[in-house]
Amino acid sequence: MGGQKSDLPALGPPAGMQPLRVDLRTLLLLVLLPCPGAWQFHVIGPRAPVIALVGEEAVLSCQLNPSMDAQNMEVRWYRTDPFGLVHRYGTSWNKIEEQKPEYQGRTEFLKENITKGHVALRIHRIQPSDGGEYVCFFESSTYYNDATFQVLVTVSGMVPHFLIEPGNRQEIKLTCTSMGWYPEPELQWRDHQGLHLTPASETKTIEESGLFRVESSLTVDKSSTAKVSCVVRNLILNVEKEVHVSLADTLFPMDCPWIVGLVIILFLLATATIIIVLLVCVRKSKGSLKKKHGKLREDYDRPSVHELCWIIMSIIP
Ligand SMILES: *[C@@H]1O[C@H](CO)[C@@H](O)[C@H](O)[C@H]1NC(C)=O
Repeated sequence: MGGQKSDLPALGPPAGMQPLRVDLRTLLLLVLLPCPGAWQFHVIGPRAPVIALVGEEAVLSCQLNPSMDAQNMEVRWYRTDPFGLVHRYGTSWNKIEEQKPEYQGRTEFLKENITKGHVALRIHRIQPSDGGEYVCFFESSTYYNDATFQVLVTVSGMVPHFLIEPGNRQEIKLTCTSMGWYPEPELQWRDHQGLHLTPASETKTIEESGLFRVESSLTVDKSSTAKVSCVVRNLILNVEKEVHVSLADTLFPMDCPWIVGLVIILFLLATATIIIVLLVCVRKSKGSLKKKHGKLREDYDRPSVHELCWIIMSIIP
């Protein structure tokens, strides 16, 4: 926890304050000096980083130690990098700072316990850009102090899916893809014993939503591995999503009985079609010989079945 300021006039508040203010403070300090400590406080922020899930809400609570009424204080939450105001409570004359546009309409000040010096800020609809360092800052008429803490934004993505393709010769190319992760997930390939396999490639891209999509390819020998898993893990939540494939079940045209069957059926069908066409043609050519005299004109105008058969028969050896 940082940002505590013990020597008031020398340091000055962090943003937008005017020199006149410091002079007033010095005056007040001098007035109050006879009873040192009565007006001092520490700000205690979240002790561990706040984990905020994308799309959900996060509560950033801060309190005063010793416990004291903060109703008449100025309370602000701001980001340090990039610097900007997230939310402010109070009636201070200092209107220089404006709430960052990305937080407008998303913040809610929880002051149920403000008389005990305990307040919280609820941020709705967490987005990836909300992650980073935050400060909560309390200012009374005589003193100020702040606390710094981290917000970790995260989300676990979808169960990965496989694309299985035949590779060169005896190889199989496996591609594992998963979307909707934040921050960058870790992707691992494992064999049936849980041992890590080295991928041929891995790419991480940022989707339109600001979340990560990860894709990795692995080349395995057809005979080598029984079961291969692709595991994508969120390192903050320690959540992993896995998909596995048993290569023994993976069928490819060369060693696939039903494909061979299909080829045979198609061959038989083609042979039968040729035989039928030939039979029809033989019948038609006999029939058209008998009718030749009566049909002369018609035959002349459009290609007859007879002529089509002749063409077919001359193509087929
Ligand atoms: C206020 O204090 C009560 C009792 O300690 C607690 O249950 C409640 O959650 C607090 N409210 C907020 C907004 O922190």
